[in-house]
Amino acid sequence: MNTIEEQGYTFQEWLMPDQIAKDVQQVADQISTDYKDKEPLFVVVLNGAFVFAADLIRALKDVRCEQTFIRVSSYWGMSSTGQLEFIVPLQQVVDNRDVIIVEDIVDSGLTIHQLKAHMRGLGATSVRVATMLFKPNKLEYDDARPDYVGREISDEFVIGYGLDFDGFLRNLPSIYKVKEGTK
Ligand code: IMP
Repeated sequence: MNTIEEQGYTFQEWLMPDQIAKDVQQVADQISTDYKDKEPLFVVVLNGAFVFAADLIRALKDVRCEQTFIRVSSYWGMSSTGQLEFIVPLQQVVDNRDVIIVEDIVDSGLTIHQLKAHMRGLGATSVRVATMLFKPNKLEYDDARPDYVGREISDEFVIGYGLDFDGFLRNLPSIYKVKEGTK
């Protein structure tokens, strides 16, 4: 197992490309079954989800679909529900569409909670969520529980396969977990 050193932290290789590919295929198979007679619109959440999304859409079987991208940043303003800031706004009409939001990881669920409300407000027929990783112990918004999950993990910081540490290391083909007690 490889390790990577970054800013005083040690990251241990956890999921290798062949295991990731199996997880992605299992998600793609479920989506292929559920959407075989639909034309879903995949809304890929930048930056992290681009790697997972690229593999996921190519692993689908007989699903006529479109893809579009969004980049948001969540912040807490005066409102108790939080606000979404659109860094890359949605470029495509979601009205009357079956939307599948694609995330790299669902943690507290705040991003998904807000994005789902946003899509519904724009008239989406249905909104589901596909994520490579899910931290169920961290979930704070029940409506953000993802419909399609590559793999559940406990509350650990992970990098690689699209997931970054301060903007770097997204390009690692494996997923690495931070080693406790480092730094
Ligand atoms: P949430 O809104 O709390 O669910 O946060 C989701 C976002 O937090 C993800 O799209 C990631 O950008 C980031 N994130 C959460 N956990 C991790 C992690 O372990 N590694 C890298 N990014 C993470």
